[in-house]
Amino acid sequence: MTQDELKKAVARAALDYIAPRLDSDSVIGVGTGSTANFFIDLLADIRNEFDGAVASSDATAERLKGHGIPVYDLNSVSELEFYVDGADETNEHLELIKGGGGALTREKIVAAVAKTFICIADESKLVGTLGTFPLPVEVIPMARSHVGREIVRLGGDPVYREGFTTDNGNIILDIHNMDISRPIQVEEKLNQIVGVVTNGLFARRPADLLLLGTSSGVKSIP
Ligand code: A5P
Repeated sequence: MTQDELKKAVARAALDYIAPRLDSDSVIGVGTGSTANFFIDLLADIRNEFDGAVASSDATAERLKGHGIPVYDLNSVSELEFYVDGADETNEHLELIKGGGGALTREKIVAAVAKTFICIADESKLVGTLGTFPLPVEVIPMARSHVGREIVRLGGDPVYREGFTTDNGNIILDIHNMDISRPIQVEEKLNQIVGVVTNGLFARRPADLLLLGTSSGVKSIP
């Protein structure tokens, strides 16, 4: 199977998981990226079976609206049962690196609110130790150099993502060569740097369910 076929398969598995659990008042948190896009396109088929969605990026909001799915401000939503999103890396504990598309902050907010975070990913994303994929950090623009120096002190190599601005008007530093053998500690240390908005480690709030696309079918973890 191609990588796209694996992504479609996990998107389908996520839809099959949530569809029987939705009612006409349900609002669904929806993530960002190519795997999430497959999920959005499938969601359109059942758009009369739920109320609407909260989007983790402007791009996702536009795609949802294009399918006629109402998009709500998170502040106007009282309950979010599910958040469905991809990942750049996952380990067996469902701790993730996210933010390859730069949407990490809104993704982390929606994940924090949702009762159940379903991560959908093809098998290339499963790693033993996080960190081969550069770890994105969203930074207030004036703090770029300061945050970069602090990241070097923590043992990482920050690389400025040239020409990219987040939906929140900030910049991204991608950290290479960071030791992420203790993800929760790294997540907390990075968050303590003044000027950091958030980082792409989802360890304090990992996924609840991983639907992993493999050549022998979709595996459900745990
Ligand atoms: C977006 O900022 C990311 O967190 C995505 O969820 C992640 O990059 C996965 O994207 P793909 O599904 O395109 O691999």
